[in-house]
Amino acid sequence: MAKGDGCSKLNRELSVGEVAERSGLAVSTLHFYESKGLIKSWRTGGNQRRYARDVLRRVSIIKVAQRTGIPLAEIKAALDTLPDGRTPNKKDWTRLSARWHEELDARIEQLTRLRDSLDGCIGCGCLSMKSCPLRNPGDRAAELGSGAWYLEEVRRKS
Ligand code: FES
Repeated sequence: MAKGDGCSKLNRELSVGEVAERSGLAVSTLHFYESKGLIKSWRTGGNQRRYARDVLRRVSIIKVAQRTGIPLAEIKAALDTLPDGRTPNKKDWTRLSARWHEELDARIEQLTRLRDSLDGCIGCGCLSMKSCPLRNPGDRAAELGSGAWYLEEVRRKS
């Protein structure tokens, strides 16, 4: 059978519609991923997009990473570390997912602290720079004493 005669399942390339159907993503999402350099295609003589079959694995990895809250720019940076822009294999996935696991842990810890701070703010509404942990997280200037310490420091240096 020749290319383009309906035997694309046998070929190693997929149309954008096939990728969308198999990945569960909208065609517009695939176009968006492509515009961000996360996936790549080539054009047929009829100017239609074609993807290598391994784009399905790449798209799965992008979706999983997005579900954990990893920004697209970071996903792209991680995928860009792979030689020749190849799709992550099992070993690559282990490395990438371990890194994202650490980032997710850090984010969970940060959100937990934020949630706990919010507990003290419920029903308050003061949003005080002096006493509200959400307005002034960590109260970085507290140990310097009262007053505009940072402003004084700028004045002293100028
Ligand atoms: S709003 Fe009052 S302590 Fe945060």
